[in-house]
Amino acid sequence: MMNVAIVAGGDSGEYTISMLSGEQVEQQTDRNRYQPFLIEIRGDSWIYRKAGKEFPVDKNDFSLHLPGKHVRFDVVFNAIHGTPGENGKLQGYLDMLGIPYTSSDVMTSALAFNKAFCKGVVARYGILTPHSVHLFRRQKDKISTLTDRISIPCFVKPNNGGSSVGMSKVTSAGQLPPALELAFREDEEVLVEEYIEGRELTCAVLRTEGEVVPLPVCEIVSKKEFFDYEAKYTQGMADEIVPAPVPPEVAEECRRISTTLYNLLNCRGIARFDYIHTRDKFYFLEVNTVPGLTAASIVPKMIREHGWSYTELVTRLIEEAIIAP
Ligand SMILES: Nc1ncnc2c1ncn2[C@@H]1O[C@H](COP(=O)(O)OP(=O)(O)O)[C@@H](O)[C@H]1O
Ligand SMILES: [Mg+2]
Repeated sequence: MMNVAIVAGGDSGEYTISMLSGEQVEQQTDRNRYQPFLIEIRGDSWIYRKAGKEFPVDKNDFSLHLPGKHVRFDVVFNAIHGTPGENGKLQGYLDMLGIPYTSSDVMTSALAFNKAFCKGVVARYGILTPHSVHLFRRQKDKISTLTDRISIPCFVKPNNGGSSVGMSKVTSAGQLPPALELAFREDEEVLVEEYIEGRELTCAVLRTEGEVVPLPVCEIVSKKEFFDYEAKYTQGMADEIVPAPVPPEVAEECRRISTTLYNLLNCRGIARFDYIHTRDKFYFLEVNTVPGLTAASIVPKMIREHGWSYTELVTRLIEEAIIAP
């Protein structure tokens, strides 16, 4: 029986969602194959809980000292959205210990997590992405000339963020300073991005049994001004429609671009690509290398539509991590 550490939590605004993802993965793990251990990673507290007791992880070798046994892990199922699970930090640690994991490697994770740098690479491959300006806290001077370089309406987002935390849609110049302040509260870097009016589509891709498989496309219809935190996590505030009610050729194009990006960025495990679609064009917004896996998340809906169970997804991701670490 293989020991699987499911890591969840992390140190960002996505902590709660990540815990829900991790709990769901643990519940859905096939116990005939794997022995799951849900481990909460938060700051320097890395904890496994059992029967009301807490057991800290031994960080020397990522193992657990439980009463009467020393548990080592064959593989890590990564369910941490945001830092340190989605930006390459945890990946670097696990690489050094030689423990395989279910998500992309250090380089791909770090690149994908940096929205501005990732857009730069994606654009070089000829895929459209909204025009944007990348700001660093240390370089305040760039901020004063911002309105010359970006049109309004625009989006202001923490560059290394997720779940729409700290993000605003700006519709007048006066709204820029507070929007920047909000985003800079979350991150040292901020992305100011041209607003694209269109339909929001998202597509997840995974590699399994040696094949790169795009899942059915999802359309997001938010009842808020955009797909903000509330719309993402409040029942009834957004419709996530799978399969997306778009012409088959549009869905096919979305799957094609996503598969291309998955390969070009050298992704592993499951990755979800977000776009705005307008006038027959796809604008790439971002890629999530550890997408939400809660019972209500988008990926489980795509998986169901594809004809797999949640448990089958977990098994496929674990097997892929072990076969091709
Ligand atoms: N340039 C844009 N044009 C239109 N809508 C956008 C744009 N950028 C972001 N959005 C909206 O904001 C949401 C969150 O943006 P995204 O870049 O995906 O960040 P996050 O990592 O927080 O999901 C998107 O799902 C979309 O609804
Ligand atoms: Mg997104």
